[in-house]
Amino acid sequence: MAARHIGFIGGGNMAGSLVAGLLGSGFAPSRVRVADIDADKLARLVADHGVAAADGEQQIGADCDLIVLAVKPQSMEAACAALRPALAGRAPLIVSVAAGVTLARIARWLGPSLPIVRCMPNTPALIGAGAAGLYANANTSAEHRCEVEELMNTVGLCAWCGRESDLDIVTALSGSGPAYFFLFMEAMRDAATKMGLDAALAETLTCQTALGAARLAQAQAEEAGGPDLAELRARVTSPGGTTEAAINRFERDGFRELVDAALAAAAGRARELATSNG
Ligand SMILES: NC(=O)c1ccc[n+]([C@@H]2O[C@H](COP(=O)([O-])OP(=O)(O)OC[C@H]3O[C@@H](n4cnc5c(N)ncnc54)[C@H](OP(=O)(O)O)[C@@H]3O)[C@@H](O)[C@H]2O)c1
Repeated sequence: MAARHIGFIGGGNMAGSLVAGLLGSGFAPSRVRVADIDADKLARLVADHGVAAADGEQQIGADCDLIVLAVKPQSMEAACAALRPALAGRAPLIVSVAAGVTLARIARWLGPSLPIVRCMPNTPALIGAGAAGLYANANTSAEHRCEVEELMNTVGLCAWCGRESDLDIVTALSGSGPAYFFLFMEAMRDAATKMGLDAALAETLTCQTALGAARLAQAQAEEAGGPDLAELRARVTSPGGTTEAAINRFERDGFRELVDAALAAAAGRARELATSNG
């Protein structure tokens, strides 16, 4: 990566997975600085990864050419206020992973001329299988955007959105998406258990089925340049068979309409949060 030093403000779950991803990709721990107001969390990250503990936001602002804002949305304004004085005369690349905090607000807190990228990651980043949406402000260069891609690719895949408002849809899709799959898996496990299958066996088979389905879709995507999900489904749905019986029931009882409404609710809530946050 082009950045000589990468700084994290907030050393929690998301920063931890990005640090692990960065170091796993060969980035030297001595080039990573982390600031966190929670001394225990900071000490753990330093002990786990051998990165440097920064003495607050000011040191990150002074030392780093790529700064990741990885605090909770409600802590962003205070973190930016503490960082801003150290940015006078500097223009490090800023990457925010805070859900619902707009580029306009970050620029208001940090300064109007900074290159800033908003990123909506998801929890599978913790195991290197994340999916993130990105959107950059007009101060970013192609090099900046490459650098953010390199960073986010260390914890999964990432893709650029055409408009900042697309991040609300990304939040509803991949940001919240892991929970939808967990809900569906819970429901499958419980249905099989109710029919009499041993609960532990139902859980094992549910998890492996989810993994297998995702891996099949991924393998087909690699082969064909994109998975044809309808085709994958059709292949396991023989006419008059068991899968068809279940799929027909899903379709008849409005499964797709329910998914439409659920994602619309999540995107609406993301918009509301972004608006209420200014
Ligand atoms: N976790 C995910 O999978 C995920 C997914 C999508 C987006 N995100 C976004 O990622 C961001 C971080 O989430 P997280 O789950 O990693 O949060 P987290 O585990 O709570 O980590 C944030 C850390 O930052 C610390 N902090 C707060 N204010 C600070 C400041 N001014 N300077 C330095 N440190 C400060 C917090 O301390 P205190 O706890 O004492 O406040 C906490 O230790 C959030 O904005 C979230 O929206 C996370």
